Amino acid sequence: MLQIKNLCKKYGKFTAVDNLNLHVPEGEIFGFVGPNGAGKTTTMKITAGLLRETSGDIYIDGINAFQNNRKVKEFIGYMPDFFGVYDNLKVNEYLDFYASIYDVNGRERKKVCDDLLELVDLSHKKDSYVDSLSRGMKQRLCLARSLVHNPKLLILDEPASGMDPRARFEMKEILKTLKDMGKTVIISSHILSELSEICTSIGIIDKGKIVMSGTVEEIMMKVYSSRVVQIKVLSKMKEAVIVLKEIPCIRNIIEGPNTLEIDVKGGEEDMKNILKSLVNKDIPIVSFAETNGKLEDVFMKVTERSEE
Ligand SMILES: Nc1ncnc2c1ncn2[C@@H]1O[C@H](COP(=O)(O)OP(=O)(O)O)[C@@H](O)[C@H]1O
Ligand SMILES: [Mg+2]
Repeated sequence: MLQIKNLCKKYGKFTAVDNLNLHVPEGEIFGFVGPNGAGKTTTMKITAGLLRETSGDIYIDGINAFQNNRKVKEFIGYMPDFFGVYDNLKVNEYLDFYASIYDVNGRERKKVCDDLLELVDLSHKKDSYVDSLSRGMKQRLCLARSLVHNPKLLILDEPASGMDPRARFEMKEILKTLKDMGKTVIISSHILSELSEICTSIGIIDKGKIVMSGTVEEIMMKVYSSRVVQIKVLSKMKEAVIVLKEIPCIRNIIEGPNTLEIDVKGGEEDMKNILKSLVNKDIPIVSFAETNGKLEDVFMKVTERSEE
């Protein structure tokens, strides 16, 4: 759906985006993560056709975006990192206004606006002034606005920033719905944990370059040569150790009082098989959990590395 090739953006002598390459397949929820100043907003604005590139190419649905700027804008919904809301409008007037800009007319327009307010859970606020909405509600209204022309590709710049946990949860639910609707979504954040649960894949950007990308699992595997799993058992420790020793992808076993810590060189399928082997031998397992599954650490490691 989106292909970015060798994208560069310079502000004067300063290089904000440095030969960036990115591929986001259709239907993906792609997390674009990096520290402040990494180049996320710049990349997203260029993709949305709101900022000129210095060099490089972008293809959206196979169409060269720089040569067909107007055409691709029909496919793209963009939510900026600040609220562009008009405070003296009511919620439904606001959305109606944006729908009219995108030439959504007549009965269709009312339906689109009603459906979108429903999607972002603001139907009950349609006669309230935009001004009176909470921050989270304003963000949801901005999201609805970016959807009035039913775009295939959504570019959301830090939509969860400054949200409380409840608002963040609601945003997550909306994104799930958008995924079910078949949209491709790019969502940025400087906080990886905000995205790890919702995204299907992630790209980490630092100093204008993609330093790592892939599915969450792939990224974990790249950073850690093995995965550490902690297994808590009720009893039958000795039997558990015997079972685990037979499994080739387990490299090391550390025995605690009622826990076992194992190093696994493998993927999700291996993890599943390890658990299955234990269960098959009637080992009473209380928990089975990966301990270095902290994406936040990966993020720190990866961006530190490019610091050197
Ligand atoms: N209009 C501009 N003029 C000069 N430098 C800019 C401009 N916009 C952004 N930058 C710089 O480019 C870098 C990347 O910015 P940005 O894309 O906003 O990063 P992010 O969204 O990841 O925080 C930053 O160092 C920022 O200071
Ligand atoms: Mg930004």
